[in-house]
Amino acid sequence: MKYDLLIKGGKIFTAEESFKGDIAVKNEKIVAIGKNFSPGDSKRVINAQGKYVIPGGIDVHVHFELPFCGTVSADDFYTGTKAAACGGVTTVIDFATQDTKRGLLAGIEARRKLADPKVCVDYSLHAVIIRWTEHTPVEICEAIHYGVPTFKMFMIYEEEGWQSDDAALFSALELSDSFNFRVMVHAESERVMKLLINHYLKQKKKVGAYGHVLSRPNFIEAEAVQRAITWTAVTGGRLYIVHMSTAEGADLVKAAQAEGVNVLAETCPQYLLLQDDVFKDRKTGHLYATCPQIKKKEDNMRLWLGLMDGEISVVSTDTCTFTKKQKALWKGDFTKIPYGLPGVETLIPLLYTYGVCKNRISMSRLVELVSTNPAKIMGLYPEKGTLMIGTDADITIFDPKKETTIDYKRLATNCDWSPYQGWKVKGFPEYTILRGNVIVENGEFCGSKGFGKFIQRKLNL
Ligand code: URP
Ligand code: ZN
Ligand code: ZN
Repeated sequence: MKYDLLIKGGKIFTAEESFKGDIAVKNEKIVAIGKNFSPGDSKRVINAQGKYVIPGGIDVHVHFELPFCGTVSADDFYTGTKAAACGGVTTVIDFATQDTKRGLLAGIEARRKLADPKVCVDYSLHAVIIRWTEHTPVEICEAIHYGVPTFKMFMIYEEEGWQSDDAALFSALELSDSFNFRVMVHAESERVMKLLINHYLKQKKKVGAYGHVLSRPNFIEAEAVQRAITWTAVTGGRLYIVHMSTAEGADLVKAAQAEGVNVLAETCPQYLLLQDDVFKDRKTGHLYATCPQIKKKEDNMRLWLGLMDGEISVVSTDTCTFTKKQKALWKGDFTKIPYGLPGVETLIPLLYTYGVCKNRISMSRLVELVSTNPAKIMGLYPEKGTLMIGTDADITIFDPKKETTIDYKRLATNCDWSPYQGWKVKGFPEYTILRGNVIVENGEFCGSKGFGKFIQRKLNL
């Protein structure tokens, strides 16, 4: 058989094993994995000697061109997915907010209109449930049938009109058991947080951006995680805590899992690597504002432990990029900072540098956290998330020796700063291959706008 692409001599990593070998691709799929394939049998050969060959990353939590906090996130579906490609990520999952008049499907279709012509990598959407009515179960069935089997609910953001109340959350969890879908929850306690916000707003000049930290102590997340877990335990539902940021959250998830509650959790690089003293800088502190906010060293350590022990299954990024000009909208009021950080492009290099190189996780565990588990949990597996005969040829060739310094000026994201500016990383994607097509070569994007596809996902039974 004449292959479209042959990747020769790399060290291949899946979540289960690693070995030196070759991967052959035809018609967008992996058709052979072995050793010493003849280069003459292929249209294109990539020499991967000394490189790691891994399944393309899957970032299950991004917000591109999201209208939020009085502005729109600065990475649109083009620049955001271009950044994903440059970071070795071949699939992203964004969110589609329920159209409160026309339903979940209308929200999904509206989002697809924006995304389809622009995406450079494959993508899907989670449906965001805002309002629960007697018709919502039908909307959920329609979404599942459409290929969207995951549903996000926010316990905060009343002002944005996105908040779901406890009754809605309880109802969704109840249904998730019989319909086998998963409920993703942003867990923070709105009422108490608002109380604290009002308290610290009175001293907003004094506290500056650090008011964002003071008004969201760890118990704000922990109480909401506990509440969501309680509803999951009593309903027998299926829960997924997004962007978990606290040690307490990790303890609660671990304890619930041990009790047999069906709860999974993700965290993000900002909660593993950054500390809340960044907010103390009077000039740049506000740039780091995201929800939940960045916590402390002890939280970083506990979350790493969660990745090692297994109670945390996924590392995503919660990419929601805002430029310095957008962040400046805060004008000294810590409640008015556009919340969110860039991140999809640096996910794999950061996790490699601070996880694998520091012996916290193995390379196979990295693959599991950023590709295989996301694919399994979100209903993309085995077409995505692994390297096997018959799977989509979504492949990242990672150079473990390449040393770089993170500099927003050299990244593809549409951001004029980086939370990791000046950080040294070891290892960076050299090639990114989407369904057998090279979209990043020698670190440079060479794909095209609109080449990414909307992927219909399955229920994870
Ligand atoms: O601050 C953040 N994370 N912005 C995006 C919305 C969310 O809460 O995930
Ligand atoms: Zn959130
Ligand atoms: Zn988010």
